[in-house]
Order: sequence, then C-alpha cells, then structure tokens
Amino acid sequence: MEKRRRLGVAVVGFGWMGRVHTQAYARVLHHFPQLTVRPELVAVADEVPGRAQQAADQFGFASALDDWREVAADPRVDVVSIAAPNFLHAEIGVAMAGAGKHIWIEKPVGLSAADARAVADAAAGAGVQGTVGFNYRNAPAVAAARELIASGALGTVTHARIRLFSDYAAHPDGALTWRYERERGGSGVLGDLASHGVDLARHLLGEIDSLVADTAVFLAERPRPTGATAGHTRAAGGESGPVENEDYVSCLLRFVSGARGVLEACRVSVGEQNNYGFEIHGTEGAVFWDFRRMGELGLSLGTAYQDQPVSTLYVGPGHGEYAAFQPGAANSMGYDDLKVVEAYAFLRSVAEGTPYGATLRDAVRSAEALDAMAGSAEQGGWVRLS
Ligand SMILES: NC(=O)c1ccc[n+]([C@@H]2O[C@H](COP(=O)([O-])OP(=O)(O)OC[C@H]3O[C@@H](n4cnc5c(N)ncnc54)[C@H](O)[C@@H]3O)[C@@H](O)[C@H]2O)c1
Repeated sequence: MEKRRRLGVAVVGFGWMGRVHTQAYARVLHHFPQLTVRPELVAVADEVPGRAQQAADQFGFASALDDWREVAADPRVDVVSIAAPNFLHAEIGVAMAGAGKHIWIEKPVGLSAADARAVADAAAGAGVQGTVGFNYRNAPAVAAARELIASGALGTVTHARIRLFSDYAAHPDGALTWRYERERGGSGVLGDLASHGVDLARHLLGEIDSLVADTAVFLAERPRPTGATAGHTRAAGGESGPVENEDYVSCLLRFVSGARGVLEACRVSVGEQNNYGFEIHGTEGAVFWDFRRMGELGLSLGTAYQDQPVSTLYVGPGHGEYAAFQPGAANSMGYDDLKVVEAYAFLRSVAEGTPYGATLRDAVRSAEALDAMAGSAEQGGWVRLS
C-alpha cells in the first residue's frame, strides 16, 4: 500500500495560472517521486459560470464551486492554489491561512506590500506554509548562475541588468481587463513583470538597499471586455476606458552588497515576446541568461579580464532540478516545468514543515521594492528600503 500522505488540493481562479497549477499537481509525482505526500484534486472555484465545472470535467476535481469561501470551509482541502486576480490575493490568502490551509499563491501577492504582509502574517500566525509563484528562479540555469555567483566565480559582483519585455499588452484591442485597473490589478507592469525581476535580483544578488525609478503609460485607453476574460483577451470595437496603471518601468538599483543594477520592464514592447533575462558582471566574470533559451547560460569566467572568451553552458543534471526532467544536458525544459518545480517546493514544505522555494517573505520584500519604485516615480528621488 502507498505510504504517501494524501493532501486535498483546491484551486481558486481557473484562468491561465489556475490551469498551470493544476497541471503541475497532476505531474509533480512523475518528476519528484521522493515526495511523501500525494496531491488529490478536491475542489476548483471560479466566479465565471461554468468555468469551474469545465475544469472539474477536464482535470478530475471532485467539486466545482462558484464561491471560493466554500473552499475555505471544506475540511477535505489541505492546500490551496490562489490564482485569482491580484485584488483578491489578500482576502483569499488571509481567509485560507486562517482556515488552516497551506497556500501556493501567485505573485505579486496582492495590490501592495501591505497586502503581501497581511497574507504573510496570517500564514505565520496559523503555522501554514506559503509558496509564491516566482517561477523564473526555478530555471536550472538560474540555479547555476546563483551557485556561480555565490562561489565567487565572477569575483565581486559589480553590476547587473535585469529585463522583462513583453508585447502581451501591446495590441490596441487588448481588453481592459482587471490587469489595467488600480482597484483590481493594483500596479501594472510593476506587479506583473517587475515583481519577477525583483525576485530574480534578490535571489541572485541579495537584498536591495535603495532605488530610483521612472514609470510611464504608453497606451492610455483600451476597449472594455465584451464577455468573460482569461489571460490577454482582445475586445475589438468595445467602448473604451482608461488604463489606470503603468505600462513601463525603469529603475536603478543599489544592492546592500554595493553592486549596482538596472531593472527595466515593459508590457507593450512590440517585437518582444517573453524577453526576460539578466546580465550580471563581476570583477572577473559574467553570466547571461535569456528565458527564451531557458537551458542556456552564457558564461565568461577566468582571469583574463580583457578579451575574456564567452561560452555557452547547456544546463544538465546537477543544475537546479534539471535531473527531475531530463537525463542529459541540452534537452529542453519549458515554462510549465518551472511550475512543477514550484509545486514540488510547495508540497515538500507542507510535508516537512520547512519552507522551500520562494516564500511569502520573498513576496513581501518584492512588494516593498515595487511600492518604493511607484513612490520614487511619483515623487522623484532615491528611496531607501527598510
Ligand atoms: N507566475 C507567473 O508567471 C504568472 C503568469 C501570469 C499570471 N500570474 C498571476 O496569476 C494570477 C492570475 O493571473 P491569470 O493570468 O491566470 O489571470 P486570468 O484572468 O487568466 O485568470 C484569473 C481567473 O480568476 C477568476 N476569478 C476572478 N474573480 C474570482 C473570484 N472571486 N473567485 C474565483 N475566481 C475568480 C477569473 O474568472 C479567471 O478565471 C495573477 O495574480 C497574476 O499576477 C503569474
């Protein structure tokens, strides 16, 4: 008989991320058989009529619900994925933690650092685990870069550029969904993409000391959606309404270590699809990463200083969690695999009572940096992080 403890899983919000979390639960034991728990799909909740039922039919959740509050009250549910829009993160996160459910919650965890803190405090108070959807740190090449930096292979890190460029909002017919509203989305590209950038920056280079930022809205109006939306729906011809949050941010960073950084993120970059990555320089070397070539890490290592060759490392077993997916270097992994790694970190945290992967504290630190960027952009000048 199987010795694994059964964990009842619920997913709240079944848009893009709800689906990806569900697929990750379904696959996690295929890749991480060492897990001592087995996730079982108990309930899915979504407010769009029929969407939860469709998810239940396709993925095998035992119950399909319209109201997430029923999930909080359900004793069969041990762990909850929160993949609803940002304005619901704090309310749902606090309620689920209060009900004793462990939570895997999507970034940016609410509309502000206060929201992220409320969820983190609720989880700490209830003694439940909280894992956050900062999936890019799960890429084996990012793990390899982190190890190289920590080992001193680059010498002392001097400066870095972190970029997150996308065209997902570049089309003028892109519907005015919750993402573009202050009340339901909070910030714009700050929470959506820069939050990942801040997490990568902290994960690789340590805490941020201070920053100065500039933001801009480039597409000031969008058509209102004509029906239910998921992901980046178009709404050609709809009545238009105002975009309330920023399309673009550029930010200078000073790290506690003394290193300097530039973080730039934009959601309306025509010609850019998932151009996410970093270039990190040290006194002796450098590393380069581009999410679109996720399995490659650019390296310049040695002591030549000038004209030092640059090579490509194809990540393989031994780098991060690569070995759980492929037997030899240069076999491709994909975005969804990063979520399987995250599901493993989450379920392992629950099984062992010890946090693994990105935690709610990481979400709070990221949100504090995002709030500081918004404040700096509004008032001008450098902002010191606490
Ligand atoms: N980690 C990543 O790479 C990544 C990528 C995309 C989105 N996200 C995050 O995931 C979250 C969801 O984004 P998405 O792209 O999946 O959005 P989405 O619009 O595709 O899905 C959101 C879902 O939540 C549902 N919903 C809305 N109100 C609800 C309620 N009261 N109760 C239950 N369900 C409700 C919607 O009907 C929809 O199905 C956001 O916080 C976003 O920042 C993370």
